Amino acid sequence: MSTFQSLPGFREFYPEDCAARNGLFRAWRTAARRQGFVEYDAPVLEPLELYQEKSGEEIKSQLFEFEDKGGRKVALRPEMTPSLARLVAAKAGSLRKPLKWFSIGEMYRYEKPQKGRGRSFYQFNADILGEPGVGADAECIALLVEALKECGLREGEFEVRISDRKLWFLFLAALGADKTKIPEVLAIVDKWDKDTSDVAKKKLEIYYGNKTENAFQKINAFLRNAGDTGEVWESAVQDEETKFRIGDWSELEKKLEDLGVKSFIKRDLRIVRGLAYYTGFVFEAYQTVGTARALAGGGRYDDLLMKLGGVDMPAVGFGMGDMTVSDLLNELKRPLTDEGKLAVYLVIGGEKERPEALKLVGQFRAAGLSVDYPLKEERFGKQFKTAEQCGARLAVILGPDEAAAGQVKIKDMLSRVEVAVPNNPGLAANVREIVEKGLSA
Ligand code: HAM
Repeated sequence: MSTFQSLPGFREFYPEDCAARNGLFRAWRTAARRQGFVEYDAPVLEPLELYQEKSGEEIKSQLFEFEDKGGRKVALRPEMTPSLARLVAAKAGSLRKPLKWFSIGEMYRYEKPQKGRGRSFYQFNADILGEPGVGADAECIALLVEALKECGLREGEFEVRISDRKLWFLFLAALGADKTKIPEVLAIVDKWDKDTSDVAKKKLEIYYGNKTENAFQKINAFLRNAGDTGEVWESAVQDEETKFRIGDWSELEKKLEDLGVKSFIKRDLRIVRGLAYYTGFVFEAYQTVGTARALAGGGRYDDLLMKLGGVDMPAVGFGMGDMTVSDLLNELKRPLTDEGKLAVYLVIGGEKERPEALKLVGQFRAAGLSVDYPLKEERFGKQFKTAEQCGARLAVILGPDEAAAGQVKIKDMLSRVEVAVPNNPGLAANVREIVEKGLSA
């Protein structure tokens, strides 16, 4: 074993792991493009300030941060959203809106490595910018559902729980907190199940003073019930703003129904999201088989572009990690793969045939076929075994007999049928056709 090990929470990808990862990326890309999203990317290393103000305490405490050789304070990206906001804000005037953008990239968070969570992971991000209406929220949530379906997950295996930070803002402010501090109070609510009552009360005290006990009880009651139906929140706060907001909910749910994804959706106001920038609907996808773990999360963040780039542009989107989705697919025995199978393995009789065999390799590759061959002299049997192990569709054989007859032999590795065909200028096209159709007896 090597004395050099990879760092905790960082993964290595052997070819089969890469094939699985590429299969996942392909599913994400397919789903995003099918809904008209276009791909972008941004730097992996960013100025530290980008995350300091806007991402929320938890992510800030998990940053991989250091000073570069020029004395700049930098951080590896823990998420994509601040970079996206900066990119879009910088060119806001010239971009046709609404923007439907997606990206797939590696993120870094100094978390405790555990099943489904690493210190480096891949994240699929999809966001719509420049559209304030719930149509954009619905389109993002629909993509979240479709992307998970494209990965191979089915109805009943996951659900998207939708909540609303706007309703939470109204509720928490009505209990007596300063409006500007509500994102901080929501961070306390986000950790409600992890903290003891005493810890939660102590944290709340900063915002509620002598009204803390009342606030604690109301929040607790709300959290206990809000996973149920809409009636809970309709009765929770009843001012005009809330009623108006409930109209937005109906509109969102109608759109999700029209887009054909309503059966995957559930209201759940217990979700508040750990990131500080969300301003409206928020949502998380959970697996509903095996351990209930989060597969993705997102929401509306209408102020972030103003804060990062001075541009007033509403936005909504989500991020989906690769780890929990792949774990789930493996548990369900539906692993993804994207192995580019070899079309042809060229079996070479001996060194005398090698020059002609290499010419065939060149011709086949020029015809767009993937081709491999032994780099030095090998027994026939070993070559066939390699062809099998590579998953080659065909073995093309050039031995002394075939060479003497001006032919090659083609063997279908699945049906085991063999034919001899002339080695003439039409051979590459002939082989290509056989790769597609196969040989049958
Ligand atoms: P997030 O909830 O922090 O949101 O992360 C979204 C997803 O990324 C999680 O549900 C999980 O699948 C994956 N993820 C996060 N941390 C880890 C980790 N340490 N290991 C493995 N997977 C992880 C965001 O990042 C927002 N920026 C998403 C967003 C985009 N909101 C609007 N647009």
